[in-house]
Amino acid sequence: MIVTIDNPPVNALGAEVRQGLWDAIGAAEDPGVKAVVIHAAGRTFPAGADIREFGKPPADPWLPDLCNRIEACDKLVVAALHGTALGGGFEVALACHTRIALASAKVGFPEVNLGILPGAGGTQRAPRLCGAQEALTLMIEGKPIDAPTAMAMGLIDGVVEEDLLEQAILLAGMLVEEGKPLRRSGECRDGFRDPIGYEAAIRAARAVKRDPNLPAPGRIIDCVEAALLLPFENGLGYERAAFEDLVASEASAGLRHAFLSERRAGHIPEAHATPREIAQAGVVGGGLMGAGIATALLGAGLHVTLVEADRERLAAGLGRIDDLHERAVKRGRLSADAREAEWDRLGGTTDLAGLGAADLVIEAVTEDEALKAGVFRDLDRVMKPGAVLATNTSYLDVDDLARVTDRPADVVGLHFFSPVQAMRLVEVVAAAKTAPEVVATGFALAKRLGKVAVRAGVCDGFIGNRMLTAYRMAADILLEEGAAPAEVDAAMRDFGFAMGPYQVADMAGLDISWARRKRLADSRDPAQRYVAIADRLCEAGRFGQKTGAGYYRYAEGSRTPEEDPAVADILQAERSARGIEPRRFGKVEIRQRCLFAMVNEGAKILAEGIALRPSDIDVVMLAGYGFPRWRGGPMKAADRLGILQVRNALRGWAADEPFWTPAPMLNDMIKNGRHFDDMNAEEAQKS
Ligand code: CAA
Repeated sequence: MIVTIDNPPVNALGAEVRQGLWDAIGAAEDPGVKAVVIHAAGRTFPAGADIREFGKPPADPWLPDLCNRIEACDKLVVAALHGTALGGGFEVALACHTRIALASAKVGFPEVNLGILPGAGGTQRAPRLCGAQEALTLMIEGKPIDAPTAMAMGLIDGVVEEDLLEQAILLAGMLVEEGKPLRRSGECRDGFRDPIGYEAAIRAARAVKRDPNLPAPGRIIDCVEAALLLPFENGLGYERAAFEDLVASEASAGLRHAFLSERRAGHIPEAHATPREIAQAGVVGGGLMGAGIATALLGAGLHVTLVEADRERLAAGLGRIDDLHERAVKRGRLSADAREAEWDRLGGTTDLAGLGAADLVIEAVTEDEALKAGVFRDLDRVMKPGAVLATNTSYLDVDDLARVTDRPADVVGLHFFSPVQAMRLVEVVAAAKTAPEVVATGFALAKRLGKVAVRAGVCDGFIGNRMLTAYRMAADILLEEGAAPAEVDAAMRDFGFAMGPYQVADMAGLDISWARRKRLADSRDPAQRYVAIADRLCEAGRFGQKTGAGYYRYAEGSRTPEEDPAVADILQAERSARGIEPRRFGKVEIRQRCLFAMVNEGAKILAEGIALRPSDIDVVMLAGYGFPRWRGGPMKAADRLGILQVRNALRGWAADEPFWTPAPMLNDMIKNGRHFDDMNAEEAQKS
């Protein structure tokens, strides 16, 4: 009997699929059925449980019961795997008696990335087949492995190059013919051959220091240990309890939101447009950003031409790309051959005319309006018709840049984040006249680069830098009113950021934003609060780590921040100059002020239509600014706390400082009993 799972796009094991499989196994009881082959239509064997069902009332049949029923079936059940057999999909396969896969297939347990564990017997069946060490690596790292590796580990039984279904049917026939007893994973003891090594692997995994906010790895270790210590049925019960705890945890809710939000971000009004073909790209500007972008483009298989103003700068830019390659090779992320191939696809020139054949150019010169406008005027002259003209500006008006060209429909913002190789975010900035296929090209390119794209409208700072500015303003007000940089940083690390805002500022350098503030000084709204602490630090030559001093001081050659009495003096002088009596702020108030400032700005960004939906703002903060992923993003965090609490706190603080005035959207949401997530759902329905 052949059972085909058909639930596009990834054959997720939703209630209907589970019911279908349940019925199919029931039908296999028919004496005429000799064996069952389970395979999937479309691009993949099930890529997991249906994530959208988590947190909702469970619908029968449960996946664990289904897996047990498959395993208990007295007819041979063969799984034929292709694509990405992940999570619950791989658990279904492990419950089958034999597994055969296409060589290109990948299998694995990515549940940990969603803050949960394999909850359909995976923690009990996998270690019985492959032992603790490998099962733990698979489940704790959450990275898929290829079929031949899984076969070497004993997790699958055969690999074929093609004709998967035919081969699976042949294999089933052969095994039925042989008449050997069925191999049930739950009864297998191969992985227990070395119980001492098994326990040693458990101990070693427990000894690793892990983020206390993420409970899943610890529970995985417990379950894998239980596999050795408890009878199979009890182990399944143990796994079930751990799974249910984790599904209900804050971390899992945040991580699931992050996963679904990243996918939802791709649902854009331009999704129907066909992206333009991009094979050859140009990058103008070989600084840190330009070199990073060029390296990313090379990594995605494109031909890249780097353009710089003169030979010296060009050599420096190419040198930066070389350094990035060198680092990638040292860290094992790039092979020597691949490096060679990428280098062969790289060219450099000091003449923009060299970009005549490029399908796309990304301008990444210094953030200066006149300079960028000049580059765009020149690009308009040299680029072929139909080429995409992108700017990596972080703040400037993309409409203004489009306007200097005769082809505004081809102009788009592609805002990458530094360091490009580490930051997954690209803001795709759609200007007033950007053509739908150009926006779609930005999204397609980001996907090709392995990055996540979020659509943003034109405004000063788009989504991310506007959120960052609000966060920094909240933090700066805290400093001016009495907090120390180290207190703010510690509170935000406690919240889950890897670094606080002043550690980040010292690392990035204070001079760039100082230059920007000086440039914008004349256009600043005098009615708005301006905190001048950063200016005072820069005036004292404190540009951050690179000068050994910023918000902190750094010992020669060290990157460890130390509190500096000189900064305390500067802070005190600023407070006195403004007649502020310093007070102490507790950790909770610090993090609330920083978070609520972001939420308030997010509400304004939404009201202005700069972001399509709240979850896009979350994605920006998670993928581009180090917001703790397990919290799901600032808008998700606000939903959890309750909009009323956020608004009331803002209103209280606004009595002394208008910066905190709640955005009108928050008041409307309270009146209508709405959450940000309601808007995500509505947007999802529209697209
Ligand atoms: N449930 C529901 N929807 C899913 C899904 C899942 N497990 N996996 C993917 N999708 C959806 C995506 O949301 C996306 O939807 P839209 O088209 O509406 O945007 C669509 O499938 C395609 O996904 P991608 O854009 O991610 O496609 P891709 O080709 O880049 O990647 C993939 C495919 C590798 C399967 C990737 O989607 C992925 O990693 N999925 C998650 C796998 C996973 O975590 N599985 C474990 C689930 S938990 C579980 O199974 C628990 C258990 O033990 C019971």
